[in-house]
Amino acid sequence: MRDVTKENITDVFMGYMGPDMDPRLHEVLESLVRHLHDFAREVNLTHEEWNKGIEFLEAAGAISDKERHEFVLLSDVLGLSSLVDMLHSSPEGTSSSVLGPFHITGSPPLPVGGDLRKDFTEQVLLVEGVIKGPDGAPIPGATLDIWQTAPNGLYSSQDPDQDTYSFHGLQTVGADGRYGFTSVRPVEYTVPSDGPVGDILRACGRHPWRPSHLHFIVEADGFRPLVTEIFASDDPYLDEDTVFGVRRDLIMNYEEMEAGTFPEEGFELSGKVTDPYLKVRFDLTLVAAD
Ligand code: BEZ
Ligand code: FE
Repeated sequence: MRDVTKENITDVFMGYMGPDMDPRLHEVLESLVRHLHDFAREVNLTHEEWNKGIEFLEAAGAISDKERHEFVLLSDVLGLSSLVDMLHSSPEGTSSSVLGPFHITGSPPLPVGGDLRKDFTEQVLLVEGVIKGPDGAPIPGATLDIWQTAPNGLYSSQDPDQDTYSFHGLQTVGADGRYGFTSVRPVEYTVPSDGPVGDILRACGRHPWRPSHLHFIVEADGFRPLVTEIFASDDPYLDEDTVFGVRRDLIMNYEEMEAGTFPEEGFELSGKVTDPYLKVRFDLTLVAAD
């Protein structure tokens, strides 16, 4: 095509596609390029602005490695990761939410009632609930992969002073579907803002904070895996999560429990907690696999 114009360039682009192209790729690419071209026309994108965009992408690539995923972070702060989550989250089950970059594989087994607090001295938090199906029946044998920040706001992979699997555990529930563990209250923290995505946040007058949360991946045979997080009802950032992960059904309440009321059995810390502690009860609902 030699008569390419600013009006017909999207159709010309699609006309260059081969006949054997995968139909889904065709659909996605056509829509993506159509929106991209419409965007450039709509804002009358200048060479200087286009160059800035390219420089941003180069900088995001340069700072990325096996541990630092700047493009994922970009998708997170633009709300794209959460939008994709919501497009595929079933209303019958617990909402999903962003995975984030701090999940690590191979977490050590954590028996039901096990402890993640270890030698930390902050107030004990007891978290418990049932993993169930949409009919309310418990799901025996479901697994719960748990991870959270330490009291300093850092995940183990960000903090040379923590053991690799500090505040990480993998629990398998029994016939009653009940999970339970002790830990400390996670704290709010900032997403990495020392790279190009941080520059975008600052340019937009946005902060990099996330409300405190516990991360879970729940899996069970015959059910759709659930990647989610639960958030404290009293967190100051609950209504301004910089990655848009909060959903109303993912909000938990910390109950202040009096001294002397810690369960006498069923927890690794049973018999060892004499002070007041915090308790969260949160059930997780999986939906059937497609
Ligand atoms: C997280 O929750 O760990 C997280 C999610 C998105 C970006 C950065 C961190
Ligand atoms: Fe997190």
